Amino acid sequence: MSKRVLDLESKIKNKKALIGIIGMGYVGLPLVKTFLKKGFEVLGFDVDARKVNMLNQGESYIKHVSAEELKAFVKKKKFQATTDFGLLTRVDAIIICVPTPLDSHKNPDLSFVLKTTEVISKSLRKDQLVVLESTTYPGTTEEEMLPLLEAGGLRVGEDFYLAYSPERENPGDKFYSTEKIPKVVGGITQGCKRVAKALYDQIVVKTIPVSSPKVAEATKLLENIFRSVNIAMVNEMKMIFDRMGIDIWEVVEAASTKPFGFMPFLPGPGYGGHCIPVDPFYLAWKAKEVDYPAKFIELAGEINTLMPYYVVSKTIEELNKRGKSIKGARILILGIAYKKDIDDQRESPSLKIISLLQGKGAKVSYNDPYVPQSSGHRDYPGLKLKSVVLTEKKLKEFNAVIITTAHSVYDFEWIAENSSLIIDTRNAVKKKRKNVIKA
Ligand SMILES: NC(=O)c1ccc[n+]([C@@H]2O[C@H](COP(=O)([O-])OP(=O)(O)OC[C@H]3O[C@@H](n4cnc5c(N)ncnc54)[C@H](O)[C@@H]3O)[C@@H](O)[C@H]2O)c1
Repeated sequence: MSKRVLDLESKIKNKKALIGIIGMGYVGLPLVKTFLKKGFEVLGFDVDARKVNMLNQGESYIKHVSAEELKAFVKKKKFQATTDFGLLTRVDAIIICVPTPLDSHKNPDLSFVLKTTEVISKSLRKDQLVVLESTTYPGTTEEEMLPLLEAGGLRVGEDFYLAYSPERENPGDKFYSTEKIPKVVGGITQGCKRVAKALYDQIVVKTIPVSSPKVAEATKLLENIFRSVNIAMVNEMKMIFDRMGIDIWEVVEAASTKPFGFMPFLPGPGYGGHCIPVDPFYLAWKAKEVDYPAKFIELAGEINTLMPYYVVSKTIEELNKRGKSIKGARILILGIAYKKDIDDQRESPSLKIISLLQGKGAKVSYNDPYVPQSSGHRDYPGLKLKSVVLTEKKLKEFNAVIITTAHSVYDFEWIAENSSLIIDTRNAVKKKRKNVIKA
């Protein structure tokens, strides 16, 4: 191994390397905190000046990332957030955690990654390590980023190092914090892999080196497609069993007693978040290049997309049984975040359900202890709501309450006692009650 690789490796191992993380979001911010806790100095880069200012005042805008800890590091001058990308030249390891969304035609939108790579390439210097963490299709690091980074004349593996290491953050997970989740790493060259592995060895429980960035990129997609397909399968089972008068949740619980060959997935109102509804389509798009239509991905997408419609039709059916039409009905959505105990509304099925109900003339309110207001959504520009306070009197005002997100702070038995009709998409109400319908 070259002396330069060994020098950077030892700088990392001695925690003398300055870390630069680009994208201070749900992924970047927990990563900042992990590096800080392990004794590194960190610069946090973002284009959003509001976020940067908040961070420099030791404030966090993500519920599960505590502001107190961050404040201490800002005070000790171990952490600084910045919009000045000129500072990248000071950094030894650059980690990219910017968004990788889909465009309006469900095609990958790599613009954030490519813009960031161009910015890095302007100040790229010898002995820097660049790692992409954003989820993307196989080939992004090697085919899209590498040419941009080498355009200035520096050579990968000789002058600088490039690797891919997928993010596996599970927001709201109290046990699996960033440092407890093993990390897969693929480098363009052996030297790239070695320094990238050395970097993650300092902060996570285990680093798994693989033969190339492509394998690391594909690993992340397999993990997310596995979830998407299994969620779709159990959601389809839910609809079939419902027609047969069988409770899917009871079936999943019983099947889970099998000690091998079965892994439980729970049905719900659809899927949400920045990953599972989005990432599989990165592979579906790339697969077309090799003439392969990704059937599982498309089918899972279709079924999961259908779920909010299913919940709405169940609600209409139950209201109808009670002599109430959907037009003018007062409906409360319980939980607008896409999963429990977090504040992230991205791709939340609750938003789709609200918009479908509003389209049918229902008067929709929501409660979410972690999301005081909901507006500014690209797909739902007309949606502007504030979380209502939950009281016995308030609950009684609604014709139906739809449980979409089972936040742990909710007292579901109390909610069910005080509501006329509950549509429960999460099996949240445990006691059997006539006014609770699972959907
Ligand atoms: N959120 C998750 O649970 C999760 C889990 C695994 C993987 N991922 C992947 O991680 C990546 C980041 O996701 P996230 O949830 O952290 O997104 P996010 O939207 O929370 O954060 C992205 C941040 O990047 C900033 N940004 C946008 N363009 C930028 C640019 N050109 N330069 C610098 N900063 C820029 C934004 O202002 C924002 O603060 C995505 O590829 C996502 O698929 C997310």
